[in-house]
Amino acid sequence: MTSQKLLYEGKAKKVFETDVPGVVIVEFKDDATAFNGEKKGQIADKGVANAAISTKLFRLLEAQGIATHFREQLDARHLAVDLLHMIPLEVVVRNRVAGSLEKRTGLKEGTILPKAVIELYFKNDQLGDPLLNDDHIEVLQLATPELLQQLRSTATKINQILQQFFGQRQLILVDFKLEFGLKGDKLVLGDEISPDTCRLWDEQTLKKLDKDRFRRDLGGVEEAYHEVLERVLS
Ligand code: TMP
Repeated sequence: MTSQKLLYEGKAKKVFETDVPGVVIVEFKDDATAFNGEKKGQIADKGVANAAISTKLFRLLEAQGIATHFREQLDARHLAVDLLHMIPLEVVVRNRVAGSLEKRTGLKEGTILPKAVIELYFKNDQLGDPLLNDDHIEVLQLATPELLQQLRSTATKINQILQQFFGQRQLILVDFKLEFGLKGDKLVLGDEISPDTCRLWDEQTLKKLDKDRFRRDLGGVEEAYHEVLERVLS
């Protein structure tokens, strides 16, 4: 498979066309942004860590019956994936309070939620990715009520699988963000699952081992990604 024309460049990834119809190549960059691109930086070898972590997690989910766009890892930074028609929603699943949920509710960071909270955000940089309710999603025609229900049930199942996986590696899955697309009429998980898109805390010390170290200038950013990579591959 050869990498051809650049189709799209996002903040953390590039997507290239290939000579295989319906298959694209995703390149994981070391670039990091936060606060809708206001804060910019680089995290050494982040792309390598995120490509390997995503590969492992997509394989895990596929083995448990979740359809993902993953096909194969081509090299340290490149995955071959199915081209999807992306749904412009960010599906956030939360097991504990952190980040914007802390701001929205005033609950203390780290509070265990009595049930997983699922939130849907409009993937729209110009609007700053606002939180939407079901009526907003329906009137904007971003997803039908049936698709929305399928997004929620799939995200719930993914949460159960990932919580167990990270738990076995002494990591707390605080929250994470998923993006889905359609292949024909089939719902398929796309994007990535990595410390860029998950909050992961060490079970013993509650040390943050994710992109919050970059967002909040906590130091030890590269080390945190490396630590997660090692535990995920163990
Ligand atoms: P939040 O607390 O800032 O809303 O973030 C919730 C989760 O979503 C957290 O694990 C980080 C992830 N996330 C992304 O992957 N991309 C984003 O643009 C944002 C804002 C959050």
